[in-house]
Amino acid sequence: MDDASPSEDRLSDRDFNRLGSLIQTHCGIRIPPAKKVMVEGRLRRRARVLALPTLNDYCRHLFDDGNLHQELTDLIDAITTNKTEFFRENNHFRFLVNTALPDLATRPHRPGSNRPLKLWSAACATGAEPYTLAMVLSEYGRANGKPTFPFDILATDICTEVLAQAKQAIYPEEMAAAIPPELAKRYLRRSRDRNRPTVRLVPELRQRVHFGHLNLMDSDYPLEQDMDVIFCRNVLIYFDKPTQHTVLSKLCRHLRPGGYLFVGHSESVLGSTLPLTHVATAVFMRR
Ligand SMILES: C[S@@+](CC[C@H](N)C(=O)[O-])C[C@H]1O[C@@H](n2cnc3c(N)ncnc32)[C@H](O)[C@@H]1O
Repeated sequence: MDDASPSEDRLSDRDFNRLGSLIQTHCGIRIPPAKKVMVEGRLRRRARVLALPTLNDYCRHLFDDGNLHQELTDLIDAITTNKTEFFRENNHFRFLVNTALPDLATRPHRPGSNRPLKLWSAACATGAEPYTLAMVLSEYGRANGKPTFPFDILATDICTEVLAQAKQAIYPEEMAAAIPPELAKRYLRRSRDRNRPTVRLVPELRQRVHFGHLNLMDSDYPLEQDMDVIFCRNVLIYFDKPTQHTVLSKLCRHLRPGGYLFVGHSESVLGSTLPLTHVATAVFMRR
């Protein structure tokens, strides 16, 4: 289909390069030439929404007609890859329950304090990751005789569209298959619409997660600096190595000593200059 598109509905090399550097500068995402067809498909959908017939028209709209500033949010929404799943890379959640949470509970200033455990999902997409955390922590509280175990989950992303979906907490039923049945029973409600079967997280769980817009490329993150746990998974992979390093060092500033950083299983934490100790697969502790 794409190969049959007329040349005005393809990105010229010049436009592809201009878009690539704009996106990399603004949100860190590298777009290698091999992704050109995918990018074209995504931007074509955006062009149609604006009633612009071709990609050529879309690039003119952006770069020549002065609409870049006002289009940037939708452009980023169109470009980002937001794939996510409940209980993705499940050994992270097992590590959290079996190792990180018991360890964090023994820290000198924690027992008896009213301070909630603070967790941050730093590229949360449509919310499966922070809601998985909320289920896991609620279960941890129940298992330890503290059904009101205090925790706060902050979940951020650069993409405004996924944040709106995440706040709704409504998912296609197939996505719920990854949730253990016992937890699904406790934390999900099924829609009655058999034509469009969906599930929704229960309000008690939804209210434990707070969503916000945050670009990991910003020079400072307007957040507290004493997070106990940060999940930053499956986003660093889109950045080049120097950007990964810069983002990781900013994340470290928000992780308290002894706190845990989880990255995606295909991502690496480079360089000994970061104050992190490797403790398990794709899990690091702040020194
Ligand atoms: C593939 S999803 C990963 C979601 C989740 N962490 C997981 O592992 O299932 C990557 C997310 O990173 C977000 N993202 C990309 N660049 C970003 C940036 N500069 N700042 C914040 N989020 C970003 C995208 O919008 C997308 O939702």
